[in-house]
Amino acid sequence: MARSCQSVVVLCEAKEATWHRTVVETRELKRHFGKIRAVDGVDLTVRPGETYGLLGPNGSGKTTLIRLLVGLLKPTAGEARVLGKLMPNKEVLSQVGYMTQADALYQDLTVWENLLFFGRVYGVSSRSRLHELLELVELADRANSVVATLSGGMRRRASLACALVHSPVLLFLDEPTVGIDPQLRMTFWKHFYRLNQEGVTIVVSSHVMDEAEHCHRLGLMRQGLILAEGSADELRQRSGASTLEEAFLSFTGGGGGLG
Ligand SMILES: Nc1ncnc2c1ncn2[C@@H]1O[C@H](COP(=O)(O)OP(=O)(O)OP(=O)(O)O)[C@@H](O)[C@H]1O
Ligand SMILES: [Mg+2]
Repeated sequence: MARSCQSVVVLCEAKEATWHRTVVETRELKRHFGKIRAVDGVDLTVRPGETYGLLGPNGSGKTTLIRLLVGLLKPTAGEARVLGKLMPNKEVLSQVGYMTQADALYQDLTVWENLLFFGRVYGVSSRSRLHELLELVELADRANSVVATLSGGMRRRASLACALVHSPVLLFLDEPTVGIDPQLRMTFWKHFYRLNQEGVTIVVSSHVMDEAEHCHRLGLMRQGLILAEGSADELRQRSGASTLEEAFLSFTGGGGGLG
């Protein structure tokens, strides 16, 4: 084999090997809306089995980045690979769960009917799986309640159950605990921790500092960019800050916190 061909083969093999060690990988990923650079050149790597937190203020591009990763948006430039596939890709969807920032539930259906619906979309017909999910999110006693009559926190729990119906190996959670009380927030994180222990990789967006502490690694976002990355401890150490909020301001150039 000619030397240049060999190098190409080696390069391709190395590239393949990298994809297998990562669950999410983006290169120079951009998504612009007219003049708004919502995502503006993100290089992100999420490893199997980790909980990765996207931390950033309102408008920093977290939701847009997640929507690119689940294939709901096409990039303006760059590329995203999820579970080894170039996105957008419908094949990946059966392995990916997405809990949106605004609850994507049918308000006039009951919790059970919503679960049945999402189950059918993903070809899950096992009633025991649906019951298991109701138990997981502690809504078994509200299975027959119409979603519109639930409290905000209960709707978030129902959304989580629907996002998990097909047992995804990769879960995107867009600000999953916004608007819910501290006790329920802890319960949610216990669910996420358990899922993570079972091998589910989680990408979660937040602007709540104490939540960031639950993540293995964090990406600090501002104006469509990930400006720093590492565990909460690493970020504090590297910036010489005593709190994560100070570390965030130090890496992102200050000018307003996480809000
Ligand atoms: N479909 C769209 N059309 C036009 N602009 C958009 C669209 N989606 C997002 N944007 C803009 O992109 C920027 C990033 O928005 P995005 O929702 O990704 O931020 P975010 O970090 O999730 O914010 P938040 O914390 O408030 O949820 C914002 O300026 C927003 O107005
Ligand atoms: Mg958002």
